[in-house]
Amino acid sequence: MAKIILTGDRPTGRLHIGHYVGSLRRRVELQNSGQYDKIFVMIADAQALTDNADNPGKVRQNISEVALDYLAAGLDPAKTTIFVQSYVPELTELSFYYMNLVTVQRLQRNPTVKSEIKMRGFSETEDGAEGKAGTPVGFFCYPISQAADITAFKATTVPVGEDQEPMIEQTREIVRKFNGTYAPVLVEPEILLPDNAACLRLPGTDGKAKMSKSLGNCIYLADDAETVKAKVKGMYTDPLHLQVSDPGHIEGNTVFTYLDAFCRDEHFEKFADCFVGRKASFSFKNLDEVKAQYRAGGLGDMMVKNFLAAVLEDTLGPIRERRAQYAQDIPAVMEMLRKGSDEARKVAAATLADVKHAMAIDYFG
Ligand code: TRP
Repeated sequence: MAKIILTGDRPTGRLHIGHYVGSLRRRVELQNSGQYDKIFVMIADAQALTDNADNPGKVRQNISEVALDYLAAGLDPAKTTIFVQSYVPELTELSFYYMNLVTVQRLQRNPTVKSEIKMRGFSETEDGAEGKAGTPVGFFCYPISQAADITAFKATTVPVGEDQEPMIEQTREIVRKFNGTYAPVLVEPEILLPDNAACLRLPGTDGKAKMSKSLGNCIYLADDAETVKAKVKGMYTDPLHLQVSDPGHIEGNTVFTYLDAFCRDEHFEKFADCFVGRKASFSFKNLDEVKAQYRAGGLGDMMVKNFLAAVLEDTLGPIRERRAQYAQDIPAVMEMLRKGSDEARKVAAATLADVKHAMAIDYFG
């Protein structure tokens, strides 16, 4: 069976380093591994509209922003089909048929939907009674549309963050139900989670569980070097580490979580200067040694933060430069998306034809 990847992002803002370590970096590795027959990366504008119906302008503006983030991170349109969800209307049609295979009760139990409804204030009570805004039906059904996204491309592998696990489970259920009810034409996908715990869910710079635009605790791929440095300087560390000589804690210390996600052994030689100070100097070979010293006391937050800033810049600098280059020709970026969408549409149309045939609703041959 062909190995096929599909994944995507909602274009509600520029992508940040949480997206990068949680999925983008992996996608680029998978793309370059040569182990996959087809890779599709989708800008999920229709899904973004399910909770932004009043703000299509924001979604529109972020189509090119997200595309720039993709290209800057190293996705290559020659190897990966990058496309826009709403330009593949077959996905909407598939969703409509899948809606009959899922119950309202099952959707209500979907943990991601549940917590997102709560987060957005759509319902104010545990039992889901209508809140200030109420839950848009389209939003409530987005797991079904996500199943359409995945199955339309017969994806075997979906690289996403762990918050998307319930979506993949819901997709697998729909596939089993469809194949059992009609004919085995759909493929059950596997989730591919980040392999490093720090990357599963990168906390915000303030130490809060999630990096998110609404919390204002993000480092963006488009941030300039000075901005990144300032954000690192202001980062949450260990509130008990008051004096440099105090023993420090690694657990829940965001600076170390970011180092877990970004730092490689080569960085210790490259940025050895960061650990040379007026009062104390250290020579570390790897992150474990830094952690041991921090725990023992004597290693100050500023030194570790300077090192983190250098490590981040080592990854983000080249991404930022590529982003600026692509940003000089937005029409070319849009043309790339149009081509990708045409290509994606052909694949989705073939699956839709299979689906209609399996359901015996292909009345006219
Ligand atoms: N729900 C995903 C997110 O919020 C975006 C998405 C839409 C997606 N369709 C998908 C991800 C299909 C993987 C597969 O980021």
